[in-house]
Amino acid sequence: MKATNISYKPAGQFEDTRFEKIHNVVFSNSVEASICVAQEIATLIKLKQANNKPCILGLATGSSPIRVYEELVRMHKEEGLSFSNVVTFNLDEYYPMDKNSIHSYFYFMHQHLFNHVNINPNNINIPSGSVSQKELHQYCIDYELKIKEYGGLDFQLLGIGRTGHIGFNEPGSHYNSGTRSITLDHLTKIDAAPSFLGINNVPKKAITMGIGTVKSAKRIILLAWGHTKSSIIKDTIEGEITSEVPATYLQKHSNTTFILNEEAAQDLTRLNTPWLVGQCVWNEELSSKAIIWLCDLTKKSILKLTDEDYNNNGMSSLLIQGGSSYDINIKMFNKLQHTITGWPGGKPNADDSSRPERANPHKKRVIIFSPHPDDDVISMGGTFDRLVEQGHDVHIAYQTSGNIAVSNQEALKFAEVIKDMDSKDSKIATIINKLHSKTEDVEDIKAIRILKGLIRKRESLAATRFLGVPDKNVHFLNLPFYETGTIKKHPMGKIDVDIVANLITKIKPHQIYAAGDLADPHGTHKVCLDTIFTALENLKHEDYMNDCWVWLYRGAWHEWDIHQIDMAVPMSPDQVLKKRKAIFFHQSQKDGVMFQGNDTREFWVRAEERNNETAQKYHKLGLADYAALEAFKRYYY
Ligand code: F6R
Repeated sequence: MKATNISYKPAGQFEDTRFEKIHNVVFSNSVEASICVAQEIATLIKLKQANNKPCILGLATGSSPIRVYEELVRMHKEEGLSFSNVVTFNLDEYYPMDKNSIHSYFYFMHQHLFNHVNINPNNINIPSGSVSQKELHQYCIDYELKIKEYGGLDFQLLGIGRTGHIGFNEPGSHYNSGTRSITLDHLTKIDAAPSFLGINNVPKKAITMGIGTVKSAKRIILLAWGHTKSSIIKDTIEGEITSEVPATYLQKHSNTTFILNEEAAQDLTRLNTPWLVGQCVWNEELSSKAIIWLCDLTKKSILKLTDEDYNNNGMSSLLIQGGSSYDINIKMFNKLQHTITGWPGGKPNADDSSRPERANPHKKRVIIFSPHPDDDVISMGGTFDRLVEQGHDVHIAYQTSGNIAVSNQEALKFAEVIKDMDSKDSKIATIINKLHSKTEDVEDIKAIRILKGLIRKRESLAATRFLGVPDKNVHFLNLPFYETGTIKKHPMGKIDVDIVANLITKIKPHQIYAAGDLADPHGTHKVCLDTIFTALENLKHEDYMNDCWVWLYRGAWHEWDIHQIDMAVPMSPDQVLKKRKAIFFHQSQKDGVMFQGNDTREFWVRAEERNNETAQKYHKLGLADYAALEAFKRYYY
C-alpha cells in the first residue's frame, strides 16, 4: 500500500527547517504508517535470511506497535514471511510481574505476535519480572551481554511515553545506561492506570534496556500516534538533548526515524506554525489559525493587529494576499463573530446568511449522539438545553451502556437497595456476593454488567427529564462493540453501524450532534464516531439526508482550537449552573470517577472550566464577554 504521508525524506535526511533534529515521516493515519514499518522489518528479516544470518530485533510493547505486529502476523500467514531466523529482545517488563499475568509484557508479546508466527521460542528474550531482588543486578548484566553476543540489535522498534521515556528509561536516565531496574515515573503510572484499573495497581518498578543498549541498534524506528504524544514529540525532535527527555538522546543516532501520524506531529513547528518555517499556501483555515496565533503572541485582540505584527512574525505573505492588516483583521473578526449564536437550531424568521445554522425548518428534528451516557450533558449541556427550550424535537442516543465505568461499590449500593425491597431475589444475592468478593480488575459477570448499565441508564433518564426531553425520545443503543466487560473493546462491526443507521433512518434528523473527541482514554469515542461516519456514508444518498447537518462537539478531554470552531453557543451564568445540575445526575461518574484519564478534575469542573476558557479566548480576541461558550465544528459528509 502506498503511504499518504505529508512529507517524506529518506532516513538520515532532515526536513528543511532549522527546528528539527530527528528524521521523521508523518502519515495521515497510523494504520498505513504501521504497514510501512512492518514492511521495513519484513525486508530486513528476508535480507538476513538470504545471507543465512539471524535477524536481531529489539521490540516494544504498548499501544503503539500493535498494528505493526498485526501486519507482521498477516505477512506470515498470507505471504509466508518466516521468522525462523528471528531473535528478539524486548525492551522492558514490569517488576515484579508474573509472566502469565494479563498485564505482563510477556503475555502482550505472545498475544500480539509470538503465538502467531513461527519464531523459535528459544529465540525470544523478554526481561523476566520474576527474578529475585538478589539476582536482579546480575540478570540485567546478562541480558545486556546476550544482546552483545549476538552482535547487537539490527533493528529497534520504540514507542515513546509522555515523560519522553523510551523503553522505561525515565527522565534522569543516563546516555550510556545499560539494562537495569528502574522506578516508573508518576506520569507513566497515570498512563498505565486504565489498563491496571487504577494507579495503585500499577507496578512501581520495571526492568528496561538502557539508552546505551537502544542507541547501539543499527536502525531505530520510533512510533507515536495521537495528540497526547504531540508535545513530547516536539520536545524530542526540536528540543535540546537532555536527560529530562531521554528520547532526545536519539538525536545523536544517525539512523533513527520517527514515524508519526498527523495528530502526534501536530506540534512540530513545520506543521503547527508553518509560516515560521517557509512559504505557505494561505487557505482560510491556515489564515485563521495564524491570526489567532498572532493575537496570542502579541497579546492583542484581532482588530488591533498591525502590518508590523504580520511582517515581524512570518506572515508577510498573508499581508500581501489580504491587502492590509485592516482588511484581514475585519474579515477575521466577522468570521469569528458569525460563529456565535444563541440559536443552535437556527433562529426562526431571521436572516440566516451569516448565521451558523439555517432558519428553516423552524422546528428541527435533532439527534444528539452521546458515546457514553453522560457526554451529552458534559460536552453540550447548554446547547442541549437551548435546543429543547427553543422547541426542537430533540432525541438523545446513548451509544454505549458505559457499564465498565461504574465501580463495584456503586453497584453494590444499588444491588443492596433491590435486596432490601425483595430479600428473596436469588439473582441479586449472587450479584451481591460477587461484588463483595471481587476487585475492580476482575471482569464483571454478565448480571453485574447489566446492573451497572441500568444504573447509568437511570442516571441518564434523570438528566434528560431534567432538561425536558420525553423518555420516548431517549434511545439506549447499547452498541455491541462495547460489551466486552473489559477496557479492550471489539472493533466496530456492521451491527454497530446498522443500529446507528436505523435510528437516523427512523428520525430523519435535520441536525446530528456527535462527539468529535478522539481523546478519551479507552478509544470508545473514536469507535462511536466511526459508526456515525460510516452510517452517514451509507445513508448520504437518501433524500432526507440533503437536509441533515452534522455538528461535532468535543468530549471531556479536549476542546476545538478557536480557528476550528464553526458554531459557538454562549451560556449565561444561570445556564452554566443548569448544565452543572444536569451533569450531577450522573452520580456514578462523580466523586472519584474510575476512568478520568490523566485529568484529576471531575467532569463537571472540566466542562465548566473549558467552556469558560473558550469564552475568555473569544473575549481576548475582541469579541463579547460571555460566561461560557460551547463549541462545535461542522462536519461535511
Ligand atoms: C513498552 C515501552 C514504552 C512504551 C511507551 C509508549 O515496551 O518500552 O516505552 O513504548 O510507554 O506506550 P504506548 O505505545 O502505549 O503509548
